[in-house]
Amino acid sequence: MIVKVKKTAISLVTGDITLQKTDAIVNAANSGLMGGSGVDGAIHRAGGPAILEECKKIVAEQGRLPAGKAVITSGGNLAARYVIHTVGPVWRGGNDNEAEILASAYLESLRLAEKRNLTCISFPSISTGAYGYPLKAAAAVAVAAVVKFAEEEAVSIKEIVFVLFGEVAYSEYARALEKISQQRYF
Ligand code: APR
Repeated sequence: MIVKVKKTAISLVTGDITLQKTDAIVNAANSGLMGGSGVDGAIHRAGGPAILEECKKIVAEQGRLPAGKAVITSGGNLAARYVIHTVGPVWRGGNDNEAEILASAYLESLRLAEKRNLTCISFPSISTGAYGYPLKAAAAVAVAAVVKFAEEEAVSIKEIVFVLFGEVAYSEYARALEKISQQRYF
């Protein structure tokens, strides 16, 4: 599924984000940036030790990465040139600013890519695995944040891809994207 918002194409695919041939893939990291399971584990496994070395330097220089913020490293052995590491919110029931932090994780990653004049970026479904964010709610926040960025801030970014790990996630994001494209005329 692809939706054009001004000059930016927003698309959904299913698959493994580590295989994306793109300028940057986004990692669903934790604040320590020391790797983990899920997307984090897959990216460090496929990307190799160089990514972890760069993450260690970043934490040594600026401390742990707060939820909603983003940093960038090389892509190591990945097909992607860069990895943008962001930390999504842990789901605590929905009254702990989770939606704002999740939106910020997408927006800060996009702004970092824009600063590097990147043209294409791929996102996983941030926070919907180990961090327990309900998929339907997360898809609505993620799609709204990305569409808002495409409408208001995108200059170099021409392609934003959500890489979903299976049909269930894909259909939730497709529903969210369909709903928002019916509500707004891009
Ligand atoms: N490609 C694309 N999507 C993936 C992949 C992959 N290779 N592996 C997992 N996913 C999906 C999961 O199915 C889930 O929908 O990414 C989504 C995010 O799941 P997590 O990776 O668990 O990320 P998150 O929920 O944000 O939790 C982050 O988990 O791995 C640790 O160190 C990480 O502490 C951090 C926490």
